Amino acid sequence: MEERKVSESESVISRVMMPPDANLAGNVFGGSILKMIDEISGIVATRHCRRNVVTASIEHMDFLYPVHIGNLVTLKARMNFVGRTSMEVGVKVYAENLENGDLNFTGNAIITLVSLDESGRPVEVPRLIVETEEDKALFQEGHERWLNRNERQKKLSTKNANGNVK
Ligand SMILES: CC(C)(COP(=O)(O)OP(=O)(O)OC[C@H]1O[C@@H](n2cnc3c(N)ncnc32)[C@H](O)[C@@H]1OP(=O)(O)O)[C@@H](O)C(=O)NCCC(=O)NCCS
Repeated sequence: MEERKVSESESVISRVMMPPDANLAGNVFGGSILKMIDEISGIVATRHCRRNVVTASIEHMDFLYPVHIGNLVTLKARMNFVGRTSMEVGVKVYAENLENGDLNFTGNAIITLVSLDESGRPVEVPRLIVETEEDKALFQEGHERWLNRNERQKKLSTKNANGNVK
């Protein structure tokens, strides 16, 4: 079975926020940041499995600090955990005021993507080689989220099968 290190898929992207990214007061839309998060998590996941990937869920997203037009938004993303066909990517978002150099940690997100084969069916991904203490801790947390999610989905499909949920 193929294996890849966390460092082989780690990625960084940056973009200056423009007027179409923001409301009339100049505050950047959460959706503009979410689009960048979707893009970078797709890059990380594709680098890991070298196949087509789709976003299955956004588990978690906090916006901690406002971002304005003219700020340079930088996203850093890494693979936290891989299941059989799914991959959990952690994304950190920073905003820099280019005029005075102030840098703020503005948010973080956890995204799960699934690798697809040529027919669009989920396909097994390479194992993740965890090397550092941070890698190990994030893998463990991702594994717990994966177990909880599978448990929730199992319960949901049982309810659906019983006709309790429309
Ligand atoms: C994601 C998708 C491929 C899963 O297909 P599926 O038939 O449910 O596949 P499976 O039940 O075999 O699950 C495959 C993997 O996806 C994971 N998964 C499925 N639904 C998930 C969800 N909502 N959140 C996180 N992971 C999910 C499963 O845990 C499984 O992971 P594993 O192989 O590591 O154990 C399918 O739901 C899909 O195509 N969704 C649309 C994705 C998309 O187009 N996104 C862009 C926005 S529109």
